[in-house]
Amino acid sequence: MRAMVSLVIVALACLALALLASPSWAPWLKALHVIAVISWMAGMLYLPRLFVYHCGVAAGSEASETFKVMESRLLRVIINPAMVVTWIIGLWLAWTAFRFQGGWLHAKLALVVALSGLHGHFSASVRAFAEDRNTRSARYWRIMNEVPAAIMVLVVILVIVKPF
Ligand code: HEM
Repeated sequence: MRAMVSLVIVALACLALALLASPSWAPWLKALHVIAVISWMAGMLYLPRLFVYHCGVAAGSEASETFKVMESRLLRVIINPAMVVTWIIGLWLAWTAFRFQGGWLHAKLALVVALSGLHGHFSASVRAFAEDRNTRSARYWRIMNEVPAAIMVLVVILVIVKPF
């Protein structure tokens, strides 16, 4: 509940900032965008790693209960708010600076939609682990651990190099 309230407050604050901000705020908002991106990515890389370790312990054990708390806090306190802030400011930057034009921006958006879908999958998996009904193997989560990293590499190349 507390995480939900903080998520809503962060989202409303970003929205107000994005709506009220003049173009001179753009570098500050871009900095905030990159900070949110780093937080989102840190969580998206760490969470499947926790799932790998969680697969290795018995359901109901003390270690399993500790992993549940770590996974749930990471998702609610870091990953969810960071994704919301990344999206709001990213869309604001895309509209004010580029009017949503440019092949690199469209490709970036497609990749970020895929990353957000993966976020949904991880979020559902936190619930599955919390209820001791995960059926996926440690190998699956090890592979999943690489996907956000691959998307991040492509997104950063697109936004910095703008190859098309
Ligand atoms: C959520 C949807 C997102 C949108 C709509 C979006 C859009 C944008 C826009 C329009 C810029 C300004 C680019 C410029 O001024 O040249 C920007 C900057 C940036 N974005 Fe995003 N972004 C999003 C998510 C992400 C993600 C997920 C990452 C990394 C994984 C990322 C990494 C960056 C970086 C590193 C910059 C700074 C580039 C620079 O100006 O040097 N963004 N973003």
